[in-house]
Amino acid sequence: MSEATVHFPRGFLWGTATAAHQVEGSNTNNNWYAWEQQEGRILNGDKSGLACDWWGGRWKEDLDRAAETGQNAHRFSIEWSRIQPSPDRWDEDTLERYRTMLRGMLDRGLMPMITLHHFSNPLWLEEQGAWENDDTPQKFAVFVRRAVEALKEYVTYWVTLNEPNIYATCAYTIGTFPPGRQDINATLHVATNLMRGHTLAYHIIHELQPEARVGLSMNYRSFKPASVSPLDKWVAGLESKLLNDMFPRAAQDGKLRLVYKTVKISNAAKTQDFLGVNYYSRDLVSFDLRHAGTLFGHNYYRSDAELSTNGFLANEPEGFYEALKWGLQFNVPMLVTENGVEDAEDKLRPRYLAEHLLQMWRAVNFNWPVKGYFHWTLVDNFEWERGWSQRFGLWGLDVATQARIRRPSVDFYAEICKENGLSSAMVAKYCPEVKAKLFPD
Ligand code: FCB
Repeated sequence: MSEATVHFPRGFLWGTATAAHQVEGSNTNNNWYAWEQQEGRILNGDKSGLACDWWGGRWKEDLDRAAETGQNAHRFSIEWSRIQPSPDRWDEDTLERYRTMLRGMLDRGLMPMITLHHFSNPLWLEEQGAWENDDTPQKFAVFVRRAVEALKEYVTYWVTLNEPNIYATCAYTIGTFPPGRQDINATLHVATNLMRGHTLAYHIIHELQPEARVGLSMNYRSFKPASVSPLDKWVAGLESKLLNDMFPRAAQDGKLRLVYKTVKISNAAKTQDFLGVNYYSRDLVSFDLRHAGTLFGHNYYRSDAELSTNGFLANEPEGFYEALKWGLQFNVPMLVTENGVEDAEDKLRPRYLAEHLLQMWRAVNFNWPVKGYFHWTLVDNFEWERGWSQRFGLWGLDVATQARIRRPSVDFYAEICKENGLSSAMVAKYCPEVKAKLFPD
């Protein structure tokens, strides 16, 4: 077998990504907290509780871990419901805490990237109809102005919305996120307001900080027609247009292409300085009359796919290459703002990581403008409606004791970050089962 090391461009960002509600703990004033209190909403009745106890101060030890293992960047989100606990109140102490965290990142050599909205809404906003309410984009804009004024001293990279496609779909089509609706019209209305919110945020951030880099994090899902049937092709294409293309295209030309109409969002054209790509997996899609609620798309994994512990993800690294190729059309630099797999045993993660990073290397090898990679995630955290059942951390978490568990992937990722690349020797050490496949003769 050949021995080789593939390298990434100088200055490549290597980090992990987190989100406020998933790591902070003691978040009791948002829609997710309320959702957790309702029976049957979260798997096994799990609660976020202390989460990773970042609000109690454990962000320090976890960021030590990140820095000591060679990372040079960290993506996290700030919690709107803490900063603006009620419509007429701003919590300066919270902003000061986030400033302290940001200094903590910079002191550790971690370039911070802030997500302004990562699925959680203040309870008061949720009670007003959240993103279905046409006043919400403006309210978001007010929050963004306040947050950016307070934090811009330490941050250049801002993600306005995390996965607006997933938020709208899970909350308003599938119903697994609060408010648990199943209504395509509501989904499209919410999408329109999310795009308006992004647009307002983009312009405010640039007004306050001309040198800022602002973008969306999109969950790119690879959709393959399950057969050659034109209906399968049609529905796979439709899903791709709606879920993958809709938001970044609107951020490019100002037009939000909904199923049956196109909405012009004023000032939305050219509102992305970079594209955040979150990639996890690939679906087969077939046209199925029994799935009217999802526009007749039935999605599933191919039968021989390698699945994660709970069957949540299939290991489909080529879909990652496809994601980056897709991202090229927007003509902006790309950052991989999430990629990872749930795997408490850390059996699949090492090869998932190696195989995906090799696909990313193929992309940079063509000079595609991929500037960094944020692994999801640093420490196991609260996985939304899947609760604690899914373990995405490089580090494991014992939820009862807050102990961190060093998985082999910690050391694998550390070697990758320190080398700014991936070598056959690393693969031989951490996932020898794919050595011949990844570094053939
Ligand atoms: C993404 C979310 C992130 C995390 C991962 C597993 O869709 O952005 O918060 O839950 O999935």
